[in-house]
Amino acid sequence: MRSLISILDLSVEEIDELIAVANDIIADPESYGELCRGKKLATLFFEPSTRTRLSFEAAMYELGGNVLGFSEAQSSSAAKGESVADTAKTVSCYADIIAMRHPKEGAPLVAANNATIPVINAGDGGHNHPTQTLADLLTIQREKGSFDNLTIGLCGDLKFGRTVHSLIEAMARYNNVKFVLISPEELKLPSYIKKDVLKKHGIEYVQTTDLESVMPELDILYMTRVQRERFFNEEDYLRLKDSYILTPEKLKNAKTDLTIMHPLPRVNEISVAIDEDPRAAYFKQVFNGKIVRMALIMKLLGVTK
Ligand code: CP
Repeated sequence: MRSLISILDLSVEEIDELIAVANDIIADPESYGELCRGKKLATLFFEPSTRTRLSFEAAMYELGGNVLGFSEAQSSSAAKGESVADTAKTVSCYADIIAMRHPKEGAPLVAANNATIPVINAGDGGHNHPTQTLADLLTIQREKGSFDNLTIGLCGDLKFGRTVHSLIEAMARYNNVKFVLISPEELKLPSYIKKDVLKKHGIEYVQTTDLESVMPELDILYMTRVQRERFFNEEDYLRLKDSYILTPEKLKNAKTDLTIMHPLPRVNEISVAIDEDPRAAYFKQVFNGKIVRMALIMKLLGVTK
C-alpha cells in the first residue's frame, strides 16, 4: 500500500511512467474505461476545490470506478471534532483509495499513517500540491517536449502558493533548469525551499519584483493567485492581490514559444484577453490534471492496462 504525499514520493522514472500512461490515455481513452470497475475513490475535501476534486472524480468515473466523499468539512464528522486519523481509519472501511485536501499542512500524511488504503494529498495548506504538479509536468512535457534546459518564471504568491513549492521540488531534479522568482517582498519563496531545494541541488535562481524586465528570458511563465485564505490580515491581502496582472501589452517582449501556465482558479492575474493566445496553456493544465490523475489512481491501486 503506497500513498502520494509529496511529489518527491515519486522517482523521476515513475514520473516518466505516469506521463507515458497519461499520453496513452489521451491517445486511446476507451481502452481505460473498465480498468477500475468495482473500485471506489473517496474524495475527502476539507477545503474548497473545483478542479482537483472534480478531476479526481471524473478520473475515477472514466476508469469505470465509483466515487464517494464530501466537499466541505462541515458536512463531515470533523465538524463534531473527529480527528483526521479516525476519519482515515473509517474511510478505509468504505473505499479503496482516498484523495484528501485539508487546510492544515501535514494532514494527508497523518491520514496516510492511519489509513489501510492509499492516500493522495490533494493540497495541504500552504505546503504541497503534488497532483497539480503532475498536471503541470504533463503540460510541460506536451508543450516543450522535455523538462531540461528551461528557464521558468514563477510569479505571484510564492510564499503561500503550494503549487509552486511542489513544482520547484519536481523541476529541480532535471538538467539545466533555472528559476526566476517574481513576487512582492512580502510573498517571496520561503527560505526553507531556497535552502533545502534550490541551493542543495545547485539550481540557479534570481529573485525580482519586476515581471516585465525578466519576460524576454522565460520559456515558461507560471502565474499564481495571491492566496487570500492564508492571510491573517485582510488589509495586506487587498494591498497585494493585484501585484501582477498579465496583459497582452506585458507579453510584447516575451518569447514566441513562451508557455503561460496557471494552476487556477484565476482571480485577476491573467487578463481574459490572453486566453486565445496560442501560448496560453492553463486550460490545457485543467484537462491534463484529469488524465494524469487517472494514471496515478491506476498506479496506486496496482492496476495496469
Ligand atoms: N488548481 C487547483 O487546485 O484548483 P482547485 O482549488 O479548484 O482544486
